[in-house]
Amino acid sequence: MPNPLDVVILAAGKGTRMRSRIPKVLHPLTGLPLLEHVLRTAASLSPASLVVVVGHGADAVRAAFRDRGLVFVDQGEPLGTGHALLSAREAVAAPRLLVLPGDVPLVPQEALAALIDFHERGGLMLSFLSMELSDPGRYGRVVREDGRVVRIVEAKDASPEELAIREVNSGIWCLENTPELWGALMGLSARNAQGEYYLTDLVAVFAQEGRVDALLWPASDDLLGVNDRVDLARAEAMLRERILHRLMREGVTVVNPAAVYISPDVEVGQDAVIYPGTHLLGRTVVGEGCEIGPGAYLIDSQVEAGARVWFSVLEGAYVGKEAKIGPFAHLRPGAHIGARARVGNFVEVKNATLGEGVKAGHLAYIGDAEVGAHANIGAGAITCNYDGVRKHRTEIGPGAFIGSNAALVAPVRIGEGAYVGAGSVITEDVPPYALALERGEQRIKPEWAKKRGER
Ligand code: UD1
Ligand code: CA
Repeated sequence: MPNPLDVVILAAGKGTRMRSRIPKVLHPLTGLPLLEHVLRTAASLSPASLVVVVGHGADAVRAAFRDRGLVFVDQGEPLGTGHALLSAREAVAAPRLLVLPGDVPLVPQEALAALIDFHERGGLMLSFLSMELSDPGRYGRVVREDGRVVRIVEAKDASPEELAIREVNSGIWCLENTPELWGALMGLSARNAQGEYYLTDLVAVFAQEGRVDALLWPASDDLLGVNDRVDLARAEAMLRERILHRLMREGVTVVNPAAVYISPDVEVGQDAVIYPGTHLLGRTVVGEGCEIGPGAYLIDSQVEAGARVWFSVLEGAYVGKEAKIGPFAHLRPGAHIGARARVGNFVEVKNATLGEGVKAGHLAYIGDAEVGAHANIGAGAITCNYDGVRKHRTEIGPGAFIGSNAALVAPVRIGEGAYVGAGSVITEDVPPYALALERGEQRIKPEWAKKRGER
């Protein structure tokens, strides 16, 4: 049964400290927007509805997350976190609300579940996650009297004594969806250092009735708020480390984790070895026992077991079992490399299938092509797939041999087991097992240099 809970994510703020034209919640963290991280964690609680409050950069945020079953609420001008929640009033119906800032991306599901449990057991009106920091910086301070939470004071409004408090507000709230809540939000004042309606001011309102408490979450890193690009880099480092630790525990060797970048959705099989300077991004899947790197950039690509990829770029590519890619290969979208094939040393493949055991070892371009098993593509061979207007296909049969610097002018077919002589420009189909030569005959002029009087 789904939780009788609605989640409201506050994502309308200006994000001034980012100094960016891009809305803060769209800045990427390990390749995914900040808001995506928050949304996934929120969705893992199966809330009745997921409401996102947008304002600054609203169109861009909506566009980035359309077709996701989210309810968007426009705050208009962002006048503070209290005003942001108030603007979601009509969009929520569940008896309990979980309010999350869009800029706290690392919070784990367990922390949210713990807060909800804490809230429920305490029979509270309002609860929130707090954390202790040795340097509490700009976070809101949690003021306690006799151990009881009485209010939150924002850093900009705090006295020196209050600034010394190390327990701070994470910005993650659990609230009862009652008329009192909305009444209290409407009663907020913006008479403070920032001229904003602070959600944090609700604490003092409900603390008087003893219906407020904070759950101190021991892992403060989990609750890091991203306000500027220094925070963003810290969050990136922490998340990257989490991902790498998970993979290493699952049996992946990562040589120098400080120099390896892996996105959250990437899968890596057991006994794969990842060398420094490797980026595995998007929906990349790496099979068991692969060696990836040094120097590899893979996005949305699939590499089967036992393959090796080094000093190469793969985008939307497929690499079969035990194939060897690199050094310096570029596999572009639609590149499909068969098992045990070899592609490297400045070879580019785009929208082309290379069969099992194909060799394209040096300086070739294979685009819009079908290359049969065990064909050999010589150094400098090119499929001339583009006539300036349209793309055309090249078919190369199994076991064919394409000589160095051959230009295959598409559309064209090279038959099974056929040979194309080096330097040929092939414009007509070559039958199976034939040899095609297209070049001027070599002429020898004996003693030419001597007659010229040079020697
Ligand atoms: C807020 C809290 C602070 C807490 C910190 C934790 C308030 C007043 N302060 O401060 O106590 O320690 O988070 O990270 O709540 N937003 C809107 N509409 C607005 C303003 C903000 O949607 O009008 C959104 C922002 O996009 C952001 C979140 O609310 O995702 C928090 O706003 P931000 O301005 O970053 O608040 P902080 O100063 O970090
Ligand atoms: Ca913030």
